[in-house]
Amino acid sequence: MGRVVVLGSVNVDLHLQVERHPRGGETLLAGGLERRFGGKGGNQAVAAAAAGAGTVLVGAVGDDDAGREYLRRLEAFGVDVSAARAVDGTPTGTAVICVDAGGENTIVVAPGANHRVGAEDLAALDAAAALGPGDVLLAQLELPLEVVAEGARRAAARGARVVLNLAPYAALPADVLELADPVVVNEHEAALLEADGQHPWSLLVTLGADGSRWGDLVVPGRRVEHVVDTTGAGDSFCGVLAARLAAGDDRRAAVEAATAAAAVTVQHEGAQPPRPRPS
Ligand code: RIB
Repeated sequence: MGRVVVLGSVNVDLHLQVERHPRGGETLLAGGLERRFGGKGGNQAVAAAAAGAGTVLVGAVGDDDAGREYLRRLEAFGVDVSAARAVDGTPTGTAVICVDAGGENTIVVAPGANHRVGAEDLAALDAAAALGPGDVLLAQLELPLEVVAEGARRAAARGARVVLNLAPYAALPADVLELADPVVVNEHEAALLEADGQHPWSLLVTLGADGSRWGDLVVPGRRVEHVVDTTGAGDSFCGVLAARLAAGDDRRAAVEAATAAAAVTVQHEGAQPPRPRPS
């Protein structure tokens, strides 16, 4: 079974519960504020580890209490953080997330230490993470884009599979998109990709409650009676997808496992499970 190496972001998530999202110029009172663990990289790493993959996180936190607490938590979830760094002078990334009564969210991210990920961390992909055939590099776009692009190129050159989640959407060079199997986008990101004239050969589009489409493969969504919070759904999908592909699953089996994981995630508050599963 291959490993999953997540090249990705780590954020503290500040969740605000709102009846509805504010309009421009409007002030609303929130029903509650919770501080949780998030960041697309951290969320995906936790999901991959929970799905049984040996999981390594390459990324950065600030040299602060939040960053130290987060790295300890990732370790408790079984994620190898020996290739993650604490950087001086920049705080751990922070996201402000409004979740409305229907579980829908809006997110604004202050990248902080995530934007300090660079050459030193790419060296970790070659050294500590030592990607090779059978392994999966899983990356999203909350890190500097040139770092993601170079990480994908290095992983592919070493024979690893590259899974690229274009979230939040940004244009990547066509040669990088062509390395990914698959590129994962939601419908909104798919429209932006199309508008950029990019048509990756392996494109997996998630369709929310309607499931997903990966080329000819269509996998329906799981019925969920009560959606609490959709914040982490896409991330648990990507993390479990990467874990199952690293385990050798075919496309259908991997997407079905990812779909089931996303359905579980929308039924709890926050992007990550509150605590590791007992072993
Ligand atoms: O995908 C959800 C994540 O996006 C949140 O945890 C937040 O930190 C942002 O990175």
